[in-house]
Amino acid sequence: MIREMNCSRRSCTGRFGLLAAFLLGIMLLPSAYAQSLTGKWAGVDKVMDNGQPHKIILELQQSGNQLTGTMKTVGYSLQVTGKVTGTHFELFRAEEIANKDKPFVVGDRVGSNLHVVAWGTESVVAKPATADDVIPAVKYIEPPALHKVPSNGLAKTPPMGWNSWNKFQGKIDDATVRAIADAMVSSGMRDAGYIYLNIDDTWEGVRDAQGVLHANHKFPDMKALADYVHSKGLKLGIYSSPGPATCAGYPGSYGHEEQDAKTWAAWGIDYLKYDWCSAAMVYKDKDLHAVYQKMGDALVSSGRPIVYSLCEYGLGDVQKWGPDVSANLWRTTDDINDSWKSMSTIGFSQSPLAAYAAPGHWNDPDMLEIGNGHMSDVEYRTHMSLWSLLASPLLAGNDIRSMSLATKSILLNKEVIAIDQDPLGHQATRLSVSGDVETWSRPLADGSVAVGVFNRGSASTRVTVKASDLKLSGAVRARDLWAHKDVSATNGAFTASVPSHGVFMLRVSATR
Ligand code: GLA
Repeated sequence: MIREMNCSRRSCTGRFGLLAAFLLGIMLLPSAYAQSLTGKWAGVDKVMDNGQPHKIILELQQSGNQLTGTMKTVGYSLQVTGKVTGTHFELFRAEEIANKDKPFVVGDRVGSNLHVVAWGTESVVAKPATADDVIPAVKYIEPPALHKVPSNGLAKTPPMGWNSWNKFQGKIDDATVRAIADAMVSSGMRDAGYIYLNIDDTWEGVRDAQGVLHANHKFPDMKALADYVHSKGLKLGIYSSPGPATCAGYPGSYGHEEQDAKTWAAWGIDYLKYDWCSAAMVYKDKDLHAVYQKMGDALVSSGRPIVYSLCEYGLGDVQKWGPDVSANLWRTTDDINDSWKSMSTIGFSQSPLAAYAAPGHWNDPDMLEIGNGHMSDVEYRTHMSLWSLLASPLLAGNDIRSMSLATKSILLNKEVIAIDQDPLGHQATRLSVSGDVETWSRPLADGSVAVGVFNRGSASTRVTVKASDLKLSGAVRARDLWAHKDVSATNGAFTASVPSHGVFMLRVSATR
């Protein structure tokens, strides 16, 4: 229709030009108006595993081809801006963590509806909203006054285990967790120290009339699951949010902190990952400390030792107050994904945080992607080496039931794990950078030094580690932690050829 009009516009210039332009204007105006996206649109992305609809509401204002407005889902209200091209439109998040390269929402006008794909959703048909299409308002709860939560005494070395999110996301259930527990034992992961089996988002059901949160149908009996996991010599972790909804839209612990901590303690839960998510809709970043303190108190008074993992993407200078809320680890970055770019950007940016890691509380640059298939084994060895030098939690994120021998040899490298778990608890810092080559080191409890020389470039290169740079004097000996052999120095230096994205990792000690 538009094409025909353009065509008639071209052919009507000349004698009847003015009249044609006038008639065309009359024809175009109502149609442009009818196509405007101004209004409120609502659609259901999916029915969640707890039976609740995951609703998306877009409120848009169109001016010319420019769009502004909000996108709301349960727990979120995001400012968006964007533009319309024909029937197609794209929206970007206006918030500070916006990814400006990629639209947050893309959509098309189809008849009287919008076909919308929002971040993390399938295609949703959004119709003109009715009076029922509202996201319930959340009553503000004042965060508590600050005080120091007594330490829970856990995680003297960085927690090790497995988490469901990186590989399974919403496709996690009781049977899979049990099978992973079996595989943690048969693969040797448990005996290498990977103890925590952590269920991430999407386990949640709904609250009952007393406000007690139950698991959804994927987890018919959490207590029985915890008993099974414990019978294997493992521990069970769970996930929630201080906001009204988790990042996947399930009920969070907002206003139910003590109640939820008691429920988890009664189930036999040993670890909580507490993810900021929709708390951002209720609180400001300055409230992070008080809000996380609330659950810190609730866990301590639950009577069960529960590792406390804060997931707040590095917001609010968490490293400065994390220990005061009895946190054992806190996220220092946005989410990792299974790519060299994501892993290396996160890992190599951690040096300034080193002073904040210590036995009992650790910087968390996010979970491992080793074995998930989108990096090479050379890159996964770098991932394992860097995370271990950084004294990071080692939470495998792959399918332990079917991992390749190469993946197994990376996750189960006991000499590298020993660096991560060193009782001194000093996080590595960057010692030097030369072109694409970075050298990181950390002192260890027995007086030796762990060192990793990383090649971030695209070609292999020769690297050198000088004992004098590690502040070790006199004769030294070294162990190559990936070749599993002792290496000797030539003129006080160790050299090796390191492939693109690879690492040369040593444990160097003075001989006396
Ligand atoms: C956030 C966290 C992830 C994961 C998801 C679950 O994105 O950072 O690690 O827990 O939420 O929804």
